[in-house]
Amino acid sequence: MVLKKAAAVAGAALATLARASQPGAATPVAAPMRDLVWGKLNVLHTTDTHGWHGGHLQESQYSADWGDYVSFAEHLRRTADEQGVDLLLVDTGDRVEGNGLYDASSPKGQYYYDIYREQHIDILSTGNHELYQASTADEEHRQTVPNFRDNYVASNLDYIDPKTGERSPMAQRYRKFQTKNQKLDIVAFGFLFDFTGNANNTVVQPVKETIQEEWFQGAIREQADIFVVVGHVGVRMQEYKDIFNAIRKQNWFTPIIFFGGHVHVRDAIAYDSRSFAIASGRYFETIGWMSVNGDLKKSKAPSVEAALSFNRRYIDNNLLGLYYHTGLNDSTFPTEHGRNVSTAIAKARKELDLDHNFGCAPRDYWMTRTPYPHDSSIYTWLEKEVLPEVAVSPSRKDIPRLVILNTGAIRFDIFKGAFTRDTTYIVSPFLSVLKYIPDVPYDVASKVIVLLNNAGQIMNVASDGVPDARFMAIPEQLAIHESITYPDAASLHSDGKADSDGQQQKPLGTGSKDGGEPSLVEGYTTEDDIGTDGDDAVHSNINFYVVPNCIQAEVGFPASDEEGGSSPPDTVDLVFFDFIQPWVLLALKFSGGEDYSAKDIQQYVEGTFTELMVGWIKENWPKDC
Ligand SMILES: *[C@@H]1O[C@H](CO)[C@@H](O)[C@H](O)[C@H]1NC(C)=O
Ligand SMILES: *[C@@H]1O[C@H](CO)[C@@H](O)[C@H](O)[C@H]1NC(C)=O
Ligand SMILES: *[C@@H]1O[C@H](CO)[C@@H](O)[C@H](O)[C@H]1NC(C)=O
Repeated sequence: MVLKKAAAVAGAALATLARASQPGAATPVAAPMRDLVWGKLNVLHTTDTHGWHGGHLQESQYSADWGDYVSFAEHLRRTADEQGVDLLLVDTGDRVEGNGLYDASSPKGQYYYDIYREQHIDILSTGNHELYQASTADEEHRQTVPNFRDNYVASNLDYIDPKTGERSPMAQRYRKFQTKNQKLDIVAFGFLFDFTGNANNTVVQPVKETIQEEWFQGAIREQADIFVVVGHVGVRMQEYKDIFNAIRKQNWFTPIIFFGGHVHVRDAIAYDSRSFAIASGRYFETIGWMSVNGDLKKSKAPSVEAALSFNRRYIDNNLLGLYYHTGLNDSTFPTEHGRNVSTAIAKARKELDLDHNFGCAPRDYWMTRTPYPHDSSIYTWLEKEVLPEVAVSPSRKDIPRLVILNTGAIRFDIFKGAFTRDTTYIVSPFLSVLKYIPDVPYDVASKVIVLLNNAGQIMNVASDGVPDARFMAIPEQLAIHESITYPDAASLHSDGKADSDGQQQKPLGTGSKDGGEPSLVEGYTTEDDIGTDGDDAVHSNINFYVVPNCIQAEVGFPASDEEGGSSPPDTVDLVFFDFIQPWVLLALKFSGGEDYSAKDIQQYVEGTFTELMVGWIKENWPKDC
């Protein structure tokens, strides 16, 4: 582990002067730093930015914005030119949904498309969030694809024109180009995992089929110095293994590098000694860095195996870190272009009134930093305070109900202080509504939550067209490392390896507190297949507690009698988020009720869950922070 203590000191000295680009954003705090390791080919990677292009205004360690990233890339490109090496930028999708900057306008993305396009990105692909709503896919096709004309790659995605009904590739299937300085021949693909929840104006081809296609078989026979696969695919998912095997079978020695996303983690893995894959987190907290060193130009006989080395770094989106890696400071770092982009973001945030305060959170509420249940769990807050008051149907308010929320419906923590219009979209960007089935026998309805949370693992595998039950939970849990064992791991890993020592909800972090460094800021302490030195900034550990797929609130149940006991009602209304309808129907089937189907399901209350939650906050939290 190479630490630059000097940088911490220099950084600390700068901390009071530094200003993040968005007005009101938290001032960054310095940390001991690890350097970027440069190679012949260097890549910056963003993924799952979900609209956070204004940065994290409430979190000092991620408060740089898209304009700062534009400046950062400009400086690193100049460094690459000076050294005669190459730098590429890639993005692997889920750029939208999850932050007011994208979600708060009507139509959505009114400002986002023009802000995002300001970064020069060499290879980009599509995520599932670009495809849930037909209108989002339309805008992706109408704006982002032409904005990045030659650089957008859609290896397994087609778009259906709404007027003609014609189906054609969303963008080119692959990209062949030469790098600027070394003229390396690159063959690049852009994939999406085998996603099935898309609106009907796109078609996702399963990866196993795509790699049989004639065009793909031709592409992997192209003369390439290196293959670059970008994709909205977790780096440990089968899709990437299949793509790797297909390319490798045809090219025994050519380096292959992968950039993955979707599971919102920092991760790195080598599929063999001449391949390397990284995943670069989520929400524009992380800018991934990969470098490949060695004799990449394939001038000699291809069977000669030249030595290769790969490096990775997970760069916090922290201005002080960006200064550090460029050797610049707050007066020399921002470029004219970067400043312009930051200004455009500030203008958009103002016009969208994103700082409008709905109420003041009395404390922090965490998704996974505390166990559930817990006083500072966001899920306990929803179960005990919010759902009982918002899951009230005017016509059925006297009927007891079980209200089931999938934990993945919540996307982010709530920090103590102002809960703004921006926070609304950050915490709950989805248009989920509450559905219900009336008058379900209690002993049937009460088993549903147990089944949804994988009792007996009945719902662990996709069946009957019902997707894997893990998709109800937060995406971060899809990627929990095999190397980190968790007692309930059987529900998280397809290999079924479970730690035998019992109890639920232990922190997943290593818990190591780096004894002599009391002033470390909490943040990522990544462990990947390479080691524990991936993060650019040295942080203290944040606990991660596994949360269940779903939580349940009992609402309107008869009050307990003097002895503290009460018999449950004979029947209840079973209320649930529309997103989990397929799993709820399947669970009902298993729990021995009659054969419920979609025709038994109606909307329970008016409005989206997000609107109901904001309504609750306006009424219950004070205006003044
Ligand atoms: C997609 O679904 C919409 C709404 O259900 C329908 O009007 C439209 O015809 C469908 N389009 C295609 C291409 O199937
Ligand atoms: C930033 O760096 C420049 C060039 O090295 C230097 O002249 C200037 O004083 C520095 N500014 C601050 C605030 O440290
Ligand atoms: C920045 O914005 C100014 C004012 O709108 C404009 O004149 C200039 O060309 C822009 N520069 C860049 C590099 O985008």
